[in-house]
Amino acid sequence: MSDTPFTVAIDGPAAAGKGTISKGIASQFGFAHLDTGLLYRAVGRRTLRGMAPVEAAQALTAEELEQGGLRTAEIAQAASKVAVIAEVRAALVEFQRTFARRTGGAVLDGRDIGTVICPEAEVKLFVTASPEVRAERRYLELAAKGSDVTREQVLSDVRERDARDAERSTAPMKPADDAVLLDTSDLSIETALAKAVEIVEKVRPANL
Ligand code: DC
Repeated sequence: MSDTPFTVAIDGPAAAGKGTISKGIASQFGFAHLDTGLLYRAVGRRTLRGMAPVEAAQALTAEELEQGGLRTAEIAQAASKVAVIAEVRAALVEFQRTFARRTGGAVLDGRDIGTVICPEAEVKLFVTASPEVRAERRYLELAAKGSDVTREQVLSDVRERDARDAERSTAPMKPADDAVLLDTSDLSIETALAKAVEIVEKVRPANL
Protein backbone atom coordinates (compact mmCIF):
# COMPACT_ATOMS: atom_id res chain seq x y z
CA MET A 1 0.00 0.00 0.00
CA SER A 2 1.25 3.49 -0.86
CA ASP A 3 1.79 5.83 2.11
CA THR A 4 1.18 8.89 -0.04
CA PRO A 5 -2.06 10.49 1.14
CA PHE A 6 -5.09 10.38 -1.12
CA THR A 7 -8.10 12.43 -0.10
CA VAL A 8 -11.56 12.56 -1.63
CA ALA A 9 -13.39 15.71 -0.48
CA ILE A 10 -17.16 15.64 -0.90
CA ASP A 11 -19.08 18.80 -0.11
CA GLY A 12 -22.63 19.97 -0.64
CA PRO A 13 -25.92 20.74 1.10
CA ALA A 14 -27.98 18.38 3.27
CA ALA A 15 -29.68 15.40 1.61
CA ALA A 16 -27.95 15.86 -1.76
CA GLY A 17 -26.57 12.31 -1.57
CA LYS A 18 -23.12 13.07 -0.08
CA GLY A 19 -23.41 10.43 2.63
CA THR A 20 -24.36 7.56 0.32
CA ILE A 21 -21.77 8.57 -2.27
CA SER A 22 -19.03 8.92 0.37
CA LYS A 23 -19.78 5.55 1.94
CA GLY A 24 -19.95 3.95 -1.50
CA ILE A 25 -16.57 5.35 -2.53
CA ALA A 26 -15.00 4.33 0.77
CA SER A 27 -16.22 0.77 0.43
CA GLN A 28 -15.40 0.50 -3.27
CA PHE A 29 -11.78 1.60 -2.79
CA GLY A 30 -11.17 0.56 0.81
CA PHE A 31 -10.72 4.16 2.02
CA ALA A 32 -11.57 5.39 5.52
CA HIS A 33 -14.65 7.62 5.74
CA LEU A 34 -15.41 10.58 7.99
CA ASP A 35 -18.83 12.25 7.95
CA THR A 36 -17.72 15.64 9.28
CA GLY A 37 -21.33 16.73 9.88
CA LEU A 38 -21.26 14.36 12.87
CA LEU A 39 -18.62 16.56 14.54
CA TYR A 40 -20.89 19.60 14.35
CA ARG A 41 -23.89 17.52 15.35
CA ALA A 42 -22.09 16.21 18.43
CA VAL A 43 -21.18 19.78 19.40
CA GLY A 44 -24.78 20.84 18.70
CA ARG A 45 -26.09 18.09 20.96
CA ARG A 46 -23.82 19.19 23.77
CA THR A 47 -25.14 22.76 23.45
CA LEU A 48 -28.73 21.50 23.59
CA ARG A 49 -27.71 19.97 26.92
CA GLY A 50 -26.50 23.34 28.13
CA MET A 51 -22.80 23.43 27.29
CA ALA A 52 -21.15 26.48 25.69
CA PRO A 53 -20.36 25.82 21.98
CA VAL A 54 -16.61 26.50 21.96
CA GLU A 55 -16.06 24.49 25.13
CA ALA A 56 -18.18 21.69 23.63
CA ALA A 57 -16.04 21.63 20.46
CA GLN A 58 -12.79 21.62 22.42
CA ALA A 59 -13.95 18.74 24.61
CA LEU A 60 -15.26 16.56 21.77
CA THR A 61 -14.02 12.96 21.62
CA ALA A 62 -13.96 10.55 18.67
CA GLU A 63 -16.02 8.04 20.72
CA GLU A 64 -18.91 10.50 20.89
CA LEU A 65 -19.33 10.30 17.11
CA GLU A 66 -19.98 6.57 17.35
CA GLN A 67 -22.68 6.84 19.99
CA GLY A 68 -25.56 7.37 17.54
CA GLY A 69 -28.67 9.47 18.05
CA LEU A 70 -27.16 12.44 16.20
CA ARG A 71 -29.40 12.36 13.12
CA THR A 72 -32.43 14.24 14.40
CA ALA A 73 -33.85 17.43 12.88
CA GLU A 74 -33.32 19.28 16.17
CA ILE A 75 -29.63 18.34 16.34
CA ALA A 76 -29.18 19.25 12.64
CA GLN A 77 -30.36 22.80 13.33
CA ALA A 78 -28.21 23.05 16.47
CA ALA A 79 -25.22 21.82 14.41
CA SER A 80 -25.80 24.43 11.72
CA LYS A 81 -25.92 27.13 14.43
CA VAL A 82 -22.69 26.15 16.19
CA ALA A 83 -21.01 25.74 12.77
CA VAL A 84 -21.23 29.53 12.28
CA ILE A 85 -18.80 30.13 15.17
CA ALA A 86 -15.19 30.47 13.94
CA GLU A 87 -13.70 29.13 17.21
CA VAL A 88 -15.87 26.02 17.03
CA ARG A 89 -14.67 25.34 13.49
CA ALA A 90 -11.04 25.99 14.49
CA ALA A 91 -11.26 23.43 17.30
CA LEU A 92 -12.30 20.74 14.79
CA VAL A 93 -9.76 21.40 12.03
CA GLU A 94 -6.83 19.31 13.21
CA PHE A 95 -8.83 16.13 13.73
CA GLN A 96 -10.24 16.41 10.19
CA ARG A 97 -6.87 17.20 8.57
CA THR A 98 -5.15 14.29 10.30
CA PHE A 99 -7.94 11.99 9.14
CA ALA A 100 -7.73 13.34 5.57
CA ARG A 101 -4.02 12.66 5.20
CA ARG A 102 -3.92 9.21 6.81
CA THR A 103 -2.32 6.32 4.97
CA GLY A 104 -4.54 4.26 2.67
CA GLY A 105 -6.91 6.93 1.40
CA ALA A 106 -9.71 8.90 3.04
CA VAL A 107 -13.12 10.25 2.06
CA LEU A 108 -14.47 13.20 4.03
CA ASP A 109 -17.88 14.70 3.45
CA GLY A 110 -19.12 18.06 4.70
CA ARG A 111 -19.41 21.67 3.60
CA ASP A 112 -15.83 23.03 3.57
CA ILE A 113 -13.61 20.00 2.97
CA GLY A 114 -12.40 21.00 -0.50
CA THR A 115 -12.14 24.69 0.34
CA VAL A 116 -10.74 24.87 3.90
CA ILE A 117 -9.97 21.51 5.52
CA CYS A 118 -8.20 19.85 2.63
CA PRO A 119 -7.62 22.24 -0.28
CA GLU A 120 -4.92 19.83 -1.49
CA ALA A 121 -7.43 16.92 -1.81
CA GLU A 122 -6.75 14.87 -4.92
CA VAL A 123 -10.48 14.62 -5.75
CA LYS A 124 -13.12 17.24 -4.97
CA LEU A 125 -16.80 16.74 -5.60
CA PHE A 126 -19.62 19.16 -4.89
CA VAL A 127 -22.81 17.12 -4.72
CA THR A 128 -26.01 19.06 -5.00
CA ALA A 129 -29.73 18.77 -5.86
CA SER A 130 -32.69 21.14 -5.83
CA PRO A 131 -34.08 22.04 -2.38
CA GLU A 132 -37.40 20.37 -3.28
CA VAL A 133 -35.76 17.07 -4.22
CA ARG A 134 -33.57 17.13 -1.11
CA ALA A 135 -36.51 17.95 1.15
CA GLU A 136 -38.55 15.10 -0.34
CA ARG A 137 -35.67 12.64 0.27
CA ARG A 138 -35.23 13.82 3.84
CA TYR A 139 -39.00 13.74 4.43
CA LEU A 140 -39.23 10.11 3.25
CA GLU A 141 -36.28 9.19 5.50
CA LEU A 142 -37.86 10.84 8.54
CA ALA A 143 -41.33 9.43 7.79
CA ALA A 144 -39.83 5.93 7.52
CA LYS A 145 -38.40 6.40 11.00
CA GLY A 146 -41.89 7.21 12.28
CA SER A 147 -41.45 10.98 12.58
CA ASP A 148 -44.66 13.00 12.06
CA VAL A 149 -43.05 16.00 10.33
CA THR A 150 -44.75 17.49 7.26
CA ARG A 151 -43.19 18.02 3.81
CA GLU A 152 -43.54 21.80 4.28
CA GLN A 153 -41.67 21.70 7.59
CA VAL A 154 -38.83 19.68 6.09
CA LEU A 155 -38.52 22.01 3.07
CA SER A 156 -38.47 25.06 5.30
CA ASP A 157 -35.77 23.43 7.51
CA VAL A 158 -33.70 22.58 4.45
CA ARG A 159 -33.91 26.15 3.15
CA GLU A 160 -33.11 27.64 6.55
CA ARG A 161 -30.05 25.41 7.00
CA ASP A 162 -28.84 26.00 3.41
CA ALA A 163 -29.00 29.75 3.93
CA ARG A 164 -27.14 29.63 7.24
CA ASP A 165 -24.47 27.24 5.93
CA ALA A 166 -23.88 29.19 2.70
CA GLU A 167 -24.03 32.71 4.11
CA ARG A 168 -21.80 32.39 7.19
CA SER A 169 -18.53 34.31 7.00
CA THR A 170 -16.23 31.49 8.18
CA ALA A 171 -15.86 28.57 5.77
CA PRO A 172 -19.21 28.99 4.01
CA MET A 173 -20.56 26.07 2.00
CA LYS A 174 -19.44 26.55 -1.60
CA PRO A 175 -17.77 24.49 -4.31
CA ALA A 176 -13.97 24.74 -4.49
CA ASP A 177 -12.82 26.29 -7.78
CA ASP A 178 -11.49 22.92 -8.88
CA ALA A 179 -14.44 20.80 -7.65
CA VAL A 180 -16.47 18.63 -10.02
CA LEU A 181 -20.18 19.44 -9.68
CA LEU A 182 -22.55 16.50 -9.42
CA ASP A 183 -26.25 17.43 -9.50
CA THR A 184 -28.24 14.43 -8.29
CA SER A 185 -31.74 15.96 -8.74
CA ASP A 186 -32.56 13.68 -11.66
CA LEU A 187 -30.20 10.80 -10.89
CA SER A 188 -30.82 7.60 -9.01
CA ILE A 189 -28.38 7.12 -6.17
CA GLU A 190 -26.78 4.20 -8.06
CA THR A 191 -26.09 6.40 -11.09
CA ALA A 192 -24.76 9.24 -8.92
CA LEU A 193 -22.42 6.84 -7.12
CA ALA A 194 -21.24 5.30 -10.40
CA LYS A 195 -20.34 8.76 -11.70
CA ALA A 196 -18.43 9.57 -8.52
CA VAL A 197 -16.56 6.25 -8.64
CA GLU A 198 -15.56 6.96 -12.24
CA ILE A 199 -14.13 10.35 -11.25
CA VAL A 200 -12.09 8.85 -8.39
CA GLU A 201 -10.92 5.93 -10.53
CA LYS A 202 -9.38 8.34 -13.05
CA VAL A 203 -6.99 9.90 -10.54
CA ARG A 204 -6.43 7.11 -8.03
CA PRO A 205 -2.78 5.95 -8.00
CA ALA A 206 -2.45 2.33 -9.11
CA ASN A 207 -0.69 1.28 -5.87
CA LEU A 208 -3.37 2.58 -3.48
O1 DC B 1 -24.00 17.13 6.90
P1 DC B 1 -24.92 17.34 8.12
O2 DC B 1 -26.33 17.58 7.75
O3 DC B 1 -24.77 16.23 9.12
O4 DC B 1 -24.34 18.67 8.83
C1 DC B 1 -24.96 19.27 9.94
C2 DC B 1 -24.55 20.75 10.00
O5 DC B 1 -23.17 20.85 10.34
C3 DC B 1 -24.70 21.51 8.71
O6 DC B 1 -25.96 22.15 8.59
C4 DC B 1 -23.57 22.53 8.75
C5 DC B 1 -22.54 21.90 9.64
N1 DC B 1 -21.37 21.42 8.92
C6 DC B 1 -20.39 22.32 8.59
O7 DC B 1 -20.56 23.52 8.83
N2 DC B 1 -19.23 21.92 8.01
C7 DC B 1 -19.04 20.63 7.71
N3 DC B 1 -17.88 20.25 7.15
C8 DC B 1 -20.04 19.67 7.99
C9 DC B 1 -21.21 20.10 8.59
